Amino acid sequence: RDLPEDEPPAVVTITGAAGNIGYASVFRIASGAMLGPRRRIALRLLEVPAAVRAAEGVAMELVDGAFELLDSVEVHDDPATAFTGANFALLIGARPRTQGMERADLLQANGGIFGPQGRALNDGAADDVRVVVVGNPANTNALIAMSHAPDIPPERFTALTRLDHNRALAQLAAKAGAPLAEVSRVSIWGNHSSTQYPDIFHARIGQLSGARLAEDRAWLTEEFIPTVAKRGAAIIEARGVSSAGSAASAAIDHIRDWALGHEWGENWTSVALPSPGAYGVPEGLVSSFPARSVGGEWRIVEGLELSSFSRARIDASVAELVAERDAVRALGLV
Ligand code: NAD
Ligand code: LMR
Repeated sequence: RDLPEDEPPAVVTITGAAGNIGYASVFRIASGAMLGPRRRIALRLLEVPAAVRAAEGVAMELVDGAFELLDSVEVHDDPATAFTGANFALLIGARPRTQGMERADLLQANGGIFGPQGRALNDGAADDVRVVVVGNPANTNALIAMSHAPDIPPERFTALTRLDHNRALAQLAAKAGAPLAEVSRVSIWGNHSSTQYPDIFHARIGQLSGARLAEDRAWLTEEFIPTVAKRGAAIIEARGVSSAGSAASAAIDHIRDWALGHEWGENWTSVALPSPGAYGVPEGLVSSFPARSVGGEWRIVEGLELSSFSRARIDASVAELVAERDAVRALGLV
């Protein structure tokens, strides 16, 4: 393969690299699924000291994969060195929610992780760094990291709601008996939690409009919305641990579209990013919006009409984000 040797490799730092999502991500990233078939990659695996040995095992397996695009792989236990020169940071490492646990319980446990990581990104990452937070509670963890990185443009901090978006696409395709490629214009609003609002009112499923499907309010409110919003819990119930393969795949989709762009046409995806005040979401809150990447930046899709049905659900999820923000503020984390 003719690789551009003069172009420096992209430095990709993955936290929690020895965990389930980390393990499901790194081989696909090394094979080019995230940054394309011609971009060399320098992988940095950040773990807590107790999991460094496991991360070294992952690094050995990456070497054994003989990936042509993999320029180097390093294992770190210090964010300061792990993020030096990082072009992309996937903040996955966190404490996963276990059965019966609510996200609020996770705020305190995870809050302490994302402050120091935000600071390390601020001090050492490349000027063009792009960050996606996967570790839960993802939106608020992104807010914490962003608050500790005053020199990085806030819009470079995102949280993953692409998994929710992909789940919604799959449910709609199944409902309509249509191929996934025919489903477009779905939006995830708010928090990556059970309060999220998967919005189909602007969606298209082949010739069918989402608004038409939404006329079946019983299906919408009792099947579709809860199936998507509670899918994370359903996977935990079934697997005993939280989703990993689908989460890794969504994080790769998120970075790929952000960095490489996409032929959006009239379609869009969903991204949690610091609100510029759009759609009445308080400025600075990391909330999910319909968005397209254009020239390496996320742009919120503007001008969508929201019914009172949608508005109430967006407001409820945003209220949860405000409560999370207030809680981490009280803890001195933002
Ligand atoms: P896991 O427990 O298998 O792995 C987490 C890893 O992170 C562990 O190896 C742990 O040692 C490491 N870690 C913990 N603190 C760290 C730190 N400070 N620095 C570096 N590494 C650290 O968990 P998982 O299944 O991979 O899930 C990771 C997170 O992703 C969880 O918070 C989970 O709830 C979340 N998640 C988010 C989505 C989403 O769509 N946003 C989907 C699924 C899971
Ligand atoms: C998911 O969406 O699968 C994860 O965020 C796990 C969870 O806690 O719901």
